[in-house]
Formats: sequence, C-alpha cells, structure tokens
Amino acid sequence: MFLCCWLVLGALFPATLSINPGVKVRLTEKGIEYGRQLGMADMQQKLNSIQVPDFSGKQRVSPIGKVQYNLSNIRVLKVGIPKSSVDLVPGTGVRMSIGDAFISLNGNWRVKYLRIIKHSGSFELNVNGLSIATTISIKTDETGRPAVSSDSCSAAVGSAKVKFHGGASWLYNLFTRFIDKALRNAIQKQICPRATTVVSDLNPQLKTLNVLAKVDKYAEIEYSMVSSPTVLKSSIDLSLKGEFYNIGKHQEPPFSPAAFNLPPQNNNMLYIGMSAFTVNSAAFVYNNAGVLSLSITDDMIPKSSPIRLNTITFGVIIPEIAKQFPGLMMKLLVKMEKTPTLTFEPNNATVQATTTVTAFAIQPNSTLSPLFVLNLEASVSARMFVSEMKLAAAVTLNKMDLTLDKSNVGDFQVSALNSILQGVFKLVVIPTVNVQLAKGYPLPTIGKMKLMNTQLDVLKDYILIGTDVQFS
Ligand SMILES: *[C@@H]1O[C@H](CO)[C@@H](O)[C@H](O)[C@H]1NC(C)=O
Ligand SMILES: *[C@@H]1O[C@H](CO)[C@@H](O)[C@H](O)[C@H]1NC(C)=O
Ligand SMILES: *[C@@H]1O[C@H](CO)[C@@H](O)[C@H](O)[C@H]1NC(C)=O
Repeated sequence: MFLCCWLVLGALFPATLSINPGVKVRLTEKGIEYGRQLGMADMQQKLNSIQVPDFSGKQRVSPIGKVQYNLSNIRVLKVGIPKSSVDLVPGTGVRMSIGDAFISLNGNWRVKYLRIIKHSGSFELNVNGLSIATTISIKTDETGRPAVSSDSCSAAVGSAKVKFHGGASWLYNLFTRFIDKALRNAIQKQICPRATTVVSDLNPQLKTLNVLAKVDKYAEIEYSMVSSPTVLKSSIDLSLKGEFYNIGKHQEPPFSPAAFNLPPQNNNMLYIGMSAFTVNSAAFVYNNAGVLSLSITDDMIPKSSPIRLNTITFGVIIPEIAKQFPGLMMKLLVKMEKTPTLTFEPNNATVQATTTVTAFAIQPNSTLSPLFVLNLEASVSARMFVSEMKLAAAVTLNKMDLTLDKSNVGDFQVSALNSILQGVFKLVVIPTVNVQLAKGYPLPTIGKMKLMNTQLDVLKDYILIGTDVQFS
C-alpha cells in the first residue's frame, strides 16, 4: 500500500510541480558576442591593474661576490587581448578563452656589490603568449535571479622577456636567470583571480533583474526564474514566471501557462517571449482589484458628439424613459462581469470582454434611478508595442453584442441602442482604457539596459519581442 502510494505520488509530482514559464528570455550568439566584448573590456582593465611587488634579493656572482638587487616601480604599460572567445557548452555553461594576449611592463633596477658600488637603470618586461581559460556556470540564486560563477581557471604565460637599460652585461645574466622567472610567476599568479572577478563582476548586474516589478498601486509582475537557465548549442534560455499579482496578495488565477517554444530566430541579441498567460494574469489582477469598471457621464463625451447621455436621446429609442424621467441627465455604469481574456493568434491579439452596462437616470436630488441593464460582449483588437523598457498597448473596438438583461422601462429593441453604445465605447471607454495601456508594463530588465532595433510579433499563444541591447 505504502509503496503503491509512493509510486502514484512519484508519478504525479513532477507534473504538478513543473510550472510552465509565462515568459521566456533567450540570449542568442549575437548577444553572447556582445557580452564577450563587454567582458574583454573588463578583462583588459583587470589585467592593467596587475601589480608586481618590488623584488629584492642577494645573489653570489663570481668573481664579484655577493650582489644585492632591487626591482621597483613595476607598472603595467599595455595589455592586449587580440584573441578571445566565449563558447557555449550545452547543458553546462560557458567557456571563456583568451589566447595570445600580452602584457608589457616597465620598472627600475638597482644593484649594490663590493659594499660600495651601486648601479641602477630601468627595464622592460614583455609577457607574451598569455592564455587564459575559464569555465563559467550559470545557476539560479535564492531570489530567482541568474548567478554566474567560474568553476575552473587556468592561465599560462608563453614567454617573458626582460630588457635592461644601463649597467654591465654580467648583470643582465643575473637578472635573466633569477628574475625573469620570478616576475613571470608573480604575474601568472595574478591572472586567474582577475579572470574570476571578471565573471563575478556580472553578479551585481544580474542581481538587478526585476524579479518583482511594480506596475502601479494595484499590480506587480513576478519575473523570477522558475527553473535553472538552460545552455543550448547556440543560446542561453531563461524561464521566468511572468505573472501579474495584486500587490501584497499573491492569489493564483484559475488558469495556468501553456507551454510554448521560442522560434529559432537569431538576428537580435535577445528575444523575450511573453505568453497570453502573462497578459491574462494582468486582467485577472485588475479585475480582482475592482478597477475594470467605468462610470460614464455626459461630461465625458466630447461636446462635438451628437450622442448625449440624457433621457431625451434615450427617450427617442425607449419612449417610456422620456415619459417617466423627462429632462434628466443619465449615467452608464460599465462593469466587467468576468476576467477579460486575450488570445494571441499570428498577427492578431484579440481581447474578449463580458460586461454589463447599467443605465441610470440622475434625479435632481442626485439619486440614481436604474433604467435597464444590458449584457455587452465586446471584442477588441490590441496593438502592442515596446516603449522604453515597457510593453504598452492600444486597443480598438472590433464589435459588440448587446442583449437585454433587465428593464424597468418596459420592453424595447436592444439593437436600436447599438449605435449609441458603440459611440460611447469609441468616444469614452476605449480612450480611457488606452490611457492606461499606454503607461506600459515593465519588461524583465537587467541593469541600465537600453533596447535597440526592437520589434514585436504576435504569434500563436505568445508575443515575441526581438531586440538588441546596450548597457551604458
Ligand atoms: C633594496 O630595497 C631595500 C628596501 O627598499 C633597501 O633596504 C635596500 O638597500 C635596497 N637595495 C639596493 C641594492 O638598492
Ligand atoms: C483574430 O482572432 C480572433 C479570435 O482569436 C478572431 O475572432 C478574429 O476574427 C481574428 N481576426 C483576424 C483579423 O484574423
Ligand atoms: C430623490 O428624488 C426622487 C424622485 O423625485 C425620489 O423618489 C427620492 O425619494 C428622492 N430621494 C431622496 C433621498 O430625497
């Protein structure tokens, strides 16, 4: 019995625990190449900061005897990294390699021998054929952000040549024999720690991923990773939760993300796939917050419109209104009856909204007298765009279907109200919604990231944002 339960649990759990991401992010080879350039600029700086301590020692040299030597003021003059690559190791991480790099340094030498004789001069040190190889793994930290670490590093110096200026030739032999190697070791020892900091320098950047992005006073978006980053042959893929929540109250909607796969595009550095689930979780949140309703009064309708919210206009269609409530202004309350749903079809983003419209006459003492309630099914098209680091949208009305829910003003032909309500939607409801949608919703972002060459495509079940990025 026990074993049987275990087997059943074992079979169930992987399925229930694995959460499909609402948002997928792909870093392409082009993006990794940009990362390599940034990494090498950092590496160059790090190698420039190599510090070789002063050297001093004593060496017996025949026939002169004991020679004291000092090397000081050793400074890096130039660093060159002509060859480097960042390669993906599928399933594991990234390998960064540098070959043929060089460092040139200079410094001063001094010697003292036979108690009183002193010489000094300068020297140059050229370290060539420097190679560095490090493997980097990418994981998820405890906050759901990516984190990198360098798992192994090796550095080798091909050759080091010292050239002395001033002094006698026997001195050169002394230096080349003892000092060459010491300098070379001192430098080699410092390379891997620096390569490791180039990698770990990325973490403060990665820590800026907005795992909980505040939208407004009602909503926030969770962008934490739901699984470890996946390193593929030509991309690094991140799976983010991509779910809107009411601020401080994380209630799951009665629907969950469907699996989707990013297409094999690679013209841009970065691709962000946002599923219909993410957008629908937003609708769920705002509907829960009770902000998807709108009260419409006559002053909200442009003066130029022939449509007026009063019992004269409506009385033409429903004579009972003119009879019972002569000469009064009216109010319409548009209320979402269930969470609107958005569907993404190729090149087509459509939102279906089920609302009720309640019409009131406003009595002179401000009391609202309910006249009738309509069920209104609206289909709107959404055009989405990226603005700054936000996804924004604008909607237009496709069509609406009206049915009568209840009436206090007798029976009437609902279709006769069609054009008035279409007008009210086009003049008031849609523009109000668009003001909100234009404010935009934060996309996942890291550091001071700027988007360039950004495009957005609507595909089946998700939108695909392809973009290049620039870090300032
Ligand atoms: C080398 O430097 C040390 C400390 O800076 C100093 O005490 C010593 O006299 C120097 N030797 C020579 C040969 O200049
Ligand atoms: C867009 O999709 C909706 C359903 O998702 C459909 O009703 C509508 O006809 C489509 N529009 C176009 C222009 O294909
Ligand atoms: C407001 O006026 C209406 C119509 O004249 C009346 O039925 C209603 O009782 C009044 N309400 C208040 C609070 O005075």
